[in-house]
Amino acid sequence: MMILAVETSCDDTAVALLDGCTPLQERVRSQEEVHAAHGGVVPELASRDHLRVLPSLVDSVLGSAGLGSPGDVDVLAATAGPGLVGSLLVGLSWTKAAAWASGARFIAVNHLAAHLHIHYGCGLEVSFPAVALLVSGGHTCILRMNAWNDIHLLGTTRDDAAGEAFDKTAKLAGLGYPGGAELDRLADTGDPEAVSLPSPMADPSLPEFSFSGLKTAARSALEGGARPCDLAASFRRTVVDLLVGKLMHQCDLMRAESVLAAGGVTANSLLRESLRSECRKRGMPLFLPDREHAVDNALMVGRSAAAVLDEDPDASSSLSCNAFARWRGPRLETLCCR
Ligand code: KG4
Ligand code: ZN
Repeated sequence: MMILAVETSCDDTAVALLDGCTPLQERVRSQEEVHAAHGGVVPELASRDHLRVLPSLVDSVLGSAGLGSPGDVDVLAATAGPGLVGSLLVGLSWTKAAAWASGARFIAVNHLAAHLHIHYGCGLEVSFPAVALLVSGGHTCILRMNAWNDIHLLGTTRDDAAGEAFDKTAKLAGLGYPGGAELDRLADTGDPEAVSLPSPMADPSLPEFSFSGLKTAARSALEGGARPCDLAASFRRTVVDLLVGKLMHQCDLMRAESVLAAGGVTANSLLRESLRSECRKRGMPLFLPDREHAVDNALMVGRSAAAVLDEDPDASSSLSCNAFARWRGPRLETLCCR
């Protein structure tokens, strides 16, 4: 089954061609340069850049695989949401039009489920129930997975997402945008004990987060003369302890059989180290994406479509499927607009 997958939910344009779950071709074009001068993603600029870049990425993927047109694949998959609606519409509309013109099956997927589905068909079997941490620029969630397409929210953030908090703190420390990765590098040179920061909602049994107060404390520390590298190290330590402490509490509570992590913040070096060490202690299998597939990519969209189709070979999304900005509700549906 050949799947052409498109991801345009925020500021990365990504296209992948898969044979089942196996990647054949992948392209990602980051818009970081477009938005850096503005200190954050400008939605209108993001949509325009997706429009400009997407057709050439598709041509490049198909051409490298020796295919002539989108009609040469079996399935066309795209992200329907959550994300920036203007950006989503570019990839979603292109994919719907290509599916309509070619007769290929159309599958619209949920971006959050897709992040977790980077681990679907990765070569190692995941045992369920699993507990999952999804940490990105827009989301911070702890989820229970009973199966690949049976995913329930246990808790989320009450304000900023973890990646957003990293980016805002990086900005305060004088780093560029998005500064999460740079703050991570700076933290390696600082002392995590040097700056005392609050740990909001620290109770590990509460699977919820609040990061906005932490960011305010970071500002005060810098104004009080803290070295940026020490602040970065203390901030990273505090956020990682909160994420991992709450995740592992749920893991123990539900007697999970595996731990999955996904989203851009899982590129963080301390988070990776801490997850590995906690899972090792428990003898728990850990599924961590490589850094390239921690951030937004199209392989995860293709694997999400594969997860849907392996469960229901007749599944498809309606061509009237619309983009959506937010996902609400206790259950995370993989297939959108069935
Ligand atoms: O998953 P993603 O590409 O996009 C969203 O769906 O939001 O995540 C991007 C986020 C940004 O906030 C970025 O700063 C953060 O992931 N990020 C990091 C690191 N690398 C990327 N945060 C902390 N440490 C990193 N090494
Ligand atoms: Zn994402």
